[in-house]
Amino acid sequence: MSFQILGTGSALPACKKTNEDLSQLVDTSDEWIVTRTGIRERPILTTEMVTDIAVEAARNALENSGLTPADLDYIVCPTLGGDYLTPSLACVVQKELGASCPAVDVNGACSGFLYALDVADGIFARKKARHVLVLAAERLSRILDWSDRSTCVLFGDASAAVVLGEGDALRFLEVGAKGNLCLASPLIINNCPYTAADTRKPGLLMKNREVYTFAVGAICDGLKKAEEATGIPMEETDYFFLHQANLRIIETARKKLGLPEEKFPVNIHKYGNTSSASIPLLLDEWNRSGRLKKGQKLVFCAFGAGLTTGTAAIEWTK
Ligand code: UT7
Repeated sequence: MSFQILGTGSALPACKKTNEDLSQLVDTSDEWIVTRTGIRERPILTTEMVTDIAVEAARNALENSGLTPADLDYIVCPTLGGDYLTPSLACVVQKELGASCPAVDVNGACSGFLYALDVADGIFARKKARHVLVLAAERLSRILDWSDRSTCVLFGDASAAVVLGEGDALRFLEVGAKGNLCLASPLIINNCPYTAADTRKPGLLMKNREVYTFAVGAICDGLKKAEEATGIPMEETDYFFLHQANLRIIETARKKLGLPEEKFPVNIHKYGNTSSASIPLLLDEWNRSGRLKKGQKLVFCAFGAGLTTGTAAIEWTK
């Protein structure tokens, strides 16, 4: 026994920053950002906490699934970090929802949603739960170096969730990691006076070109593996929900695979890269706008810091 998706939900910070806004901060332009990434604006947490949008996304997903917090048997939160190092975001949300189930965070960076689905798959397989909330919430704005124009323009803050129930909709799920290849420099928060100063590195740094190449390869490999494992040709998959990191990455992978544009939903122009929240955010948009139909075949694919990867094939049963 594995799972099916019963409902989706999302929530965004009230504040949005356009490319024009960012050009007041760093030496950049709307033209550069749009042509290199497809991003036009991104939501940024200013007055709210991560917990606020996470709780709202969780409530929206529960409502969409027809369940209540009391129905939840597990909460798994893919996140690079909630408002506190401890308690975990999952525990804070559990309290706010009034749920009483186990709750844990999973850090798989931008592949975190797929890692959380993998964790949930294990929970269902062990018959430990009938309903699991997978709730991604990210505040990349907190860890960015806002003086580095090559990274600060790429990310956004958001939360998005799926409510999973027992079922047989999952056709394939694989996560991976190449632990020696760092996408971002390690983020170290360390005030310990005994730690050598040169191991305290600042904000997020990225080898942009290497990540770009890695990402295109990860998508092509992931989609091919899903095709082989499920026996469903890519042409027959209805939608590929890819991690929204850069429109050019999606387009390059899509063209390599020779697949039509309409199979690749995108919303990066509105949100930027929201890390583990990006796939469930896109899925929620498609679900709520009525574009998903029962029986459709979906593939999710993500890549991120670590380096990590994840791909899943699932039938939409709602
Ligand atoms: O979840 C995974 C997260 N990471 C990613 O997905 C990132 C993957 N990489 C990318 O998406 C692309 O590499 C970027 C969009 C980040 C950059 O595009 P690029 O075509 O690889 O540009 P580049 O890094 O090679 O930089 C080209 C030029 C450089 O100037 P020079 O050296 O040619 O004079 C940069 O300094 O563009 C400059 N540049 C900018 N100019 C204006 C870099 N960032 C900016 C900026 N505005 N924001």
